Formats: sequence, structure tokens, C-alpha cells
Amino acid sequence: MEATPTFVSKKTWNKVLNYIASSDEALPYLLIDRDVVREKVSLIGRHIRNSRVFYAVKAHPDVEVLKLLNSLGVGFEIASEGELQILASLGVAPERIITSNPVKTFKFLDRAVPYGISYYAFDSAVEVDKLVRYAPGCNVYVRLSVPNEGSEWPLSKKFGVELDEAAELLLLAKRKGLNPVGVTFHVGSQCNNVYNWSTALEKAKELREIAEQNGISFSVLNIGGGYPIHYTKNVVDVETIEKKIDRALAKKFPKDLEVFIEPGRAVVGDAGVFVATVIGKARRGDENWLYIDVGVFNGLMESIGGIKYVYVVGSRNEPERWTIAGPSCDSFDVIDREVTLREPEVGNRILILSSGAYTISYASEFNGFSIPKTILI
Ligand SMILES: Cc1ncc(COP(=O)(O)O)c(C=O)c1O
Repeated sequence: MEATPTFVSKKTWNKVLNYIASSDEALPYLLIDRDVVREKVSLIGRHIRNSRVFYAVKAHPDVEVLKLLNSLGVGFEIASEGELQILASLGVAPERIITSNPVKTFKFLDRAVPYGISYYAFDSAVEVDKLVRYAPGCNVYVRLSVPNEGSEWPLSKKFGVELDEAAELLLLAKRKGLNPVGVTFHVGSQCNNVYNWSTALEKAKELREIAEQNGISFSVLNIGGGYPIHYTKNVVDVETIEKKIDRALAKKFPKDLEVFIEPGRAVVGDAGVFVATVIGKARRGDENWLYIDVGVFNGLMESIGGIKYVYVVGSRNEPERWTIAGPSCDSFDVIDREVTLREPEVGNRILILSSGAYTISYASEFNGFSIPKTILI
């Protein structure tokens, strides 16, 4: 393999190479470095006063990953009965679980409420009625619409309401017997624009003031996820983002407000390395095509939304430009274009870095290709 990529620690790189050399596990698989996850958990929330971290399980719901996070004492943000089932199998207490999906399924509520989960997001009158029916008296926070500019995976359109509607919804929730505790937002996933948090916090502050004037006092500010990781570009580090958030919090909110953080990508993304195989090569027109056994459908779905990965091969050939595609017969299964890579041989390994988040959780067995196994190292 080539030298350690600069943004991967020597320790992680050695662990990955040692695992590959000593294992006869069938490829492809996803390695997750436990130490990187531990390090991320120790960093996230450190610079935000009065904060609690709830890992967004959707980023990677592998049971071993969840066991590790459980042992580290983090909380969990979930959206479905499937995610709840894994946490329940690990005995995670309901006080450590919240749900921030503003539109929940009946099946999920049927399980979440008896389990004892008491924090729910909402952003419509219909959801208020649903919660009144399924979770009377529960704690609710309203999802505010905030700018997602500069986020590589925007999350702004599907959910969230503007200030006036948010205030009305909080009042409606109160009138109907729910317990409105605060506000939530999401600045967009893989957010490299710190101003998104500043704008969102300003909006949340305004909402809190309107709510206070109407007799609703906030005890929770849920700042969602969004912390970015290193794919092909350098990003703002968590410490810088959190210090900026903390300064804004000190100016805009009372000290005793509890801050929920829901990181997904930042907890597991950098910790993951796909180990795959080059299965084919072709020259088509003026493009060099490289086919590998992990593609859009069985692990790299985010590539079609613009996420670009770093690939590592062990070749000493001249660098060439490649279009990289997955193994299925579908022509959507193209992971990247214009990737400069030394030409590997068919049968060689290819490593895909920073691939721990939103890869396996999105994967399907389309076309009969199995979902790569997750292995913690
Ligand atoms: C409600 C909610 N919270 C947290 C997250 C995690 O975001 P990220 O992976 O960007 O940290 C998501 C991602 O979709 C989300 O929808």
C-alpha cells in the first residue's frame, strides 16, 4: 500500500494494514477503528457548556459500534423501531434516548412510548395530534428551518418551520397537553460553514424570546448534527465549531439551558475504511473505468449526492484519471469521476477512507451483491 494518507493517524493505518495482512475475511468489508471513535466521543461536546451528546444512530447502526458507544456513556438519537430494537437489546435506558425525526411512524411510537422515551421533535399540527394520542404529556421540541448553505448533505427542505409557525406550534402543543421544552435545528450534514450555526442560534434565540413572552420556557436547545469530517478536503475542526457555538450560547441563552448535540458522521465517519477489490478495468471513449466491488448500492450511496472519497491502492504504476464504478449492472452505480490514482491490477485491494458514516446504513443487496461486513479493530 501507499504511504499513510496525511489525515489518517499512523496508528490507525498500521491497524488497518495489519488486519488486512492477517485476516482471511472475505472482501469487501468495512473496518472501524475503535480508538478513532473513542477519540471523537471525547472531543465532541467538550467545548459546549451544559451539553449532552446523542449519537445519531442512522450514521452507522452496527451493534458493535453501538456497544462501544454505549460503554462510552453517550446517548442516542433514533428515528425508528429498528434502531430502538438494537438499543433495547443492549439495555440502553430510555433517559439516554431521544428522537428528532419530526414525522414519526405509528409503529415507532407504539414501541418508543412504552419503552419510556420522552423527548420528541415535531414541526406540524398533525404531529402534535399524533403525539397527543400516542405520547400524552411528552416533552417536545420544535424543528426550526435554518440555512444549510455550505453543507455537503443539506437537510433543510424536508423538515423545519419558520419562526412564527414554530411559535404557534409550541403554543398549540402546550394547549393540547404536551410539554414544549425547546427547539431543534439541523445546519445540514457535513457542514463546513460555521456561520450556519451562528444564524441558527440567532433564530433559536428569537424563538425562545417569543415563547417566553407566551409563557413557555425553554429547558432544551437541540443543535442537531452537522460536524464535518475529512473526505478529500480539509474541514473546520470540532473544537473551533464548538467554541464558536459556546460563545454564541453564552451571549444569547440562559446558563442553565441544556444543550443536546446529535452528531452522526463526526463520530464514525473518520473511523471507517472500506477494504474492497478491483474487479475490472476498461477504456471507454476517452475515459478509464475502474470497477470495484463496493458501489453506490452496497455502501457508497452518498457518492451520488456529491460526497467524494479518498482511494488508496498499492500500485507503483503511473497515475491516471479514473471513473470509478461499483459492481452492479446499473449505470447509476458510478461512485466518482476524474480520480487520479496509480493504475491498480484487477484483483488488487483498494481502500476507501473516511467511509464509516452513511455507508453500511444506506446499503442494500441490490443485484445480489452482499452488504460488506463491519469489523471493529
Ligand atoms: C435529526 C438528525 N439529527 C442528527 C443527524 C446527524 O447528522 P450528522 O451526521 O450530520 O452529524 C441527522 C442526520 O440526518 C438528523 O436527521
